[in-house]
Amino acid sequence: MILLKNIFLNPKVNEVLQINGWIRSIRKMKNVTFIMLNDGSCYKSLQVVLPKCQNDGLTYGSAISVKGALKCRDRVQNQDLGHKRGPQLELQAELVNLLGENNWKNYPIQKKPMSEDYLRSIPHLRLRTSTMAQTMRLRASILRELRRFLDERDFIETNPPLITSSDCEGAGETFQVIKKNIKRNGTTKQEDDLPSTIEFFNRPAHLTVSTQLHLEALALALNRVYTVTPAFRAEESKTSRHLAEFWMLELEQSFIDELDPLLHLAETLIKSVARQLLRTKHMYMESKEGYLTDRWQSLLNPWHRLCYDDAIHMMQRSSRCWNFEPKWGTDLQSEHEQWLTHEVGNKPLFVTDYPSAQKPFYMKDSTPKKSACFDLLFPEVGEVIGGSLRKDAKQELASAPKALEWYKDLRQYGSAPHGGFGLGIERLVSYLAREPNVRECIPFPRTAGMLLC
Ligand code: 4AD
Ligand code: MG
Repeated sequence: MILLKNIFLNPKVNEVLQINGWIRSIRKMKNVTFIMLNDGSCYKSLQVVLPKCQNDGLTYGSAISVKGALKCRDRVQNQDLGHKRGPQLELQAELVNLLGENNWKNYPIQKKPMSEDYLRSIPHLRLRTSTMAQTMRLRASILRELRRFLDERDFIETNPPLITSSDCEGAGETFQVIKKNIKRNGTTKQEDDLPSTIEFFNRPAHLTVSTQLHLEALALALNRVYTVTPAFRAEESKTSRHLAEFWMLELEQSFIDELDPLLHLAETLIKSVARQLLRTKHMYMESKEGYLTDRWQSLLNPWHRLCYDDAIHMMQRSSRCWNFEPKWGTDLQSEHEQWLTHEVGNKPLFVTDYPSAQKPFYMKDSTPKKSACFDLLFPEVGEVIGGSLRKDAKQELASAPKALEWYKDLRQYGSAPHGGFGLGIERLVSYLAREPNVRECIPFPRTAGMLLC
């Protein structure tokens, strides 16, 4: 059994192959049947030619297994019509096995264009659209390159817990973990009958909003660490940039006492992803190629840096009418982020040194009122990364929550300067795949009011 991806990468013409896949389209002619078969491993489908007698029960969407010889067929060049049709691979099938019929008359995935809202209402099936499948493959390539880059630079991949007793970001937007007592008196009750729930073994617990605090403990033992995990935020916002469950790459590095190495790391990390996508671009959607590759290529140009003060001044000097007037001391709104990235030439922009009053307790001060922190803003998507140096002396952590004694404790036993950042995977995928909504960048999106399967 061989995957189509490998056939297209390295076609062995005349070899007899067995291929499994789903029928993307089927044309039943007088003597033969033409099928476009796709197996999910790449965007391309392979033409399969079958003797007519073999096509019983085969319809659009059914799963089949075919065996036959791989051929390379010359196709007519029709310059007048502007068709550039080179040789085409084709499987001349001798044997077909119907693995799973498709109830195509009721199949919710139609061949005509379908709206994103409609597709989101059938999340278990929308993955079969070529666009979703393509974004999922792109997402996998991005994750693979992020990991490869960090592994090569001696960052150790690690696994901090997802159930925590603290709210890292201090925004109060956490999901609580409770234990349901399903069994009582030896009988199993219906969930609706259950009035009482108890906390996580008698202690309040949350799903993590960020693994950073535990990652710091790991960095103070292992030096350079990273993790790729889900993070959970109980935000009500129904924007195209927010999910209640999203994935984050977080890293932490010991023995750094300035922001520069972190900014450099973030920039080279994402540029490396762009380079890798360009190297393997033939794997991604043909029709969209220029549309995507231009974006990846432009990421390789130099990025821009601004401190928060300068960003606010720039906006205040502009003649633009704002919904939210840019004011020193307030957080940047989405419209500010968009405007700033546009102003610096439609490129990624680091904004550094935000006022400490806006930022979580753990960030180290750069000056008395500012934090040694940064956000990386991308055009269209907004914030893709947030990071900082961390407070490394116990006395700096007087305002830390009570539950974080263990975190303060780290500072009295061989504490070292350190810092790190968190990169939102769906936001990066959204930019690189040119999918404006992060819900199209994760297989089963969870947002306020959306939990279909
Ligand atoms: O800026 P945030 O909240 O930073 C942290 O959680 C730090 N503790 C990370 C660290 O330093 N280790 O989140 C980091 C990134 C954001 O820049 C954004 O890309 C993404 O996570 N993000 C979201 N993505 C989708 N939906 C949401 N609701 C998100 N909230 C944050
Ligand atoms: Mg942030």
